[in-house]
Amino acid sequence: MQIIEHAESLTPMHACALVPTMGALHAGHASLIQRAASDGLPVVVSLFVNPTQFAAGEDFSKYPRTLEADRELCQAAGATAIFIPSVQDMYPHGVDAANTEAGTLQLPLVATQPKLEDAQRPTHFAGVCQVVAKLFDMCQPATAYFGEKDFQQLRVIQDMARREGARWKNLVVHACPTIRESDGLAMSSRNRYLQADQRENALGLWRALTVAQASVRAGMDIAAVENEMLRVLAQHQLQVEYAVIRAPGTLLPIEKFEPKLKSGARALIAARLESVRLIDNASCGGA
Ligand code: PAJ
Repeated sequence: MQIIEHAESLTPMHACALVPTMGALHAGHASLIQRAASDGLPVVVSLFVNPTQFAAGEDFSKYPRTLEADRELCQAAGATAIFIPSVQDMYPHGVDAANTEAGTLQLPLVATQPKLEDAQRPTHFAGVCQVVAKLFDMCQPATAYFGEKDFQQLRVIQDMARREGARWKNLVVHACPTIRESDGLAMSSRNRYLQADQRENALGLWRALTVAQASVRAGMDIAAVENEMLRVLAQHQLQVEYAVIRAPGTLLPIEKFEPKLKSGARALIAARLESVRLIDNASCGGA
C-alpha cells in the first residue's frame, strides 16, 4: 500500500475509488474500504482532520489521531493507497482564509434547509463541502464511498456531486450502511470519548430508532413516533438536539407516512451525554 502525502503524487490514482475519512478508523470505515475494493478499482483512502468543518469550541484539537493503526486497518481492508495531506497542503493560504472561503460556497439545499445538523453546526457543511470538493478535484475519482451513519452529510455530498457532474466526470457516490457494535451502538471515532458509565446511555439512540421503527409498523402517526423517540432518549439521560422523522431525499418534515414514503422515511437523532455529541439514524419501515 502506497502512502501519498502530496496532491501531485495522486495523478496515477485518477479514476480510483475514493474513501474520504478523518482517520481514527474503525470497522465502519473498514466496511467502506472493503466495499470500494470489491468494486474493482484501486482504492484511495484519505485521512485528513479537516479544520474548516469544526466550529470554535468543537473537538478539532482533541480529535483522535491514530495514524499507525489507521495505516494497518487500510492495508488489511484492501486500500491501494492512503492520502495524508497536511493542513498546509490543503489550505496553502491558511485556515482563516479557508474558513472565509468556505463561507462563500453555494451549498445544496439539503445542507441548509432541514434544520438538523445545519442548525446545530451552522458552519459544518460548508467545511465538509469545501474539503470533499478539494479531494474530488485532487483525486478525480470514478467513485466515492460515504456512510449512512452521517445521513445528512451523505445527502449533501450526493447533491453536490450531482450538481457538479461535469467537473467530476459524473462521479458516482455510493451510500454504505451503518456498522454497529453488537448491541446496536453505531460505530464512531467519537465513541472513545464515552466514559464507561455513559456507554449504556449512549445505546439510547439505537433503542429510540428501533422503537420508532416498531411504532411506524404499529401504525402510529409522525408526532406519536417522534414522542416515542423522545421518551426513550429521556430514559437514557440523553440531552436531545433533534429526534425527528423526515423525508429521505430532502430531509424536510413530512405530514404523514405516504405508502410510497413509509419504507424510506428516515428517523434522525442528535443527542448529547454531557460533552459527547452522538448522532444516528435509520430508515423506519425497514426498507
Ligand atoms: P469520518 O467521520 O472519519 O467518516 C468517514 C466516512 O465513514 C463517512 O462517510 C462516514 O459516514 C463513514 N462512517 C463513519 N462511521 C460509520 C459507521 N459506523 N458505519 C458506516 N460508515 C461510517 O465524515 C467524515 O469523516 C468527514 O466529514 C469527511 C467526509 C471525511 C470530510 O472531512
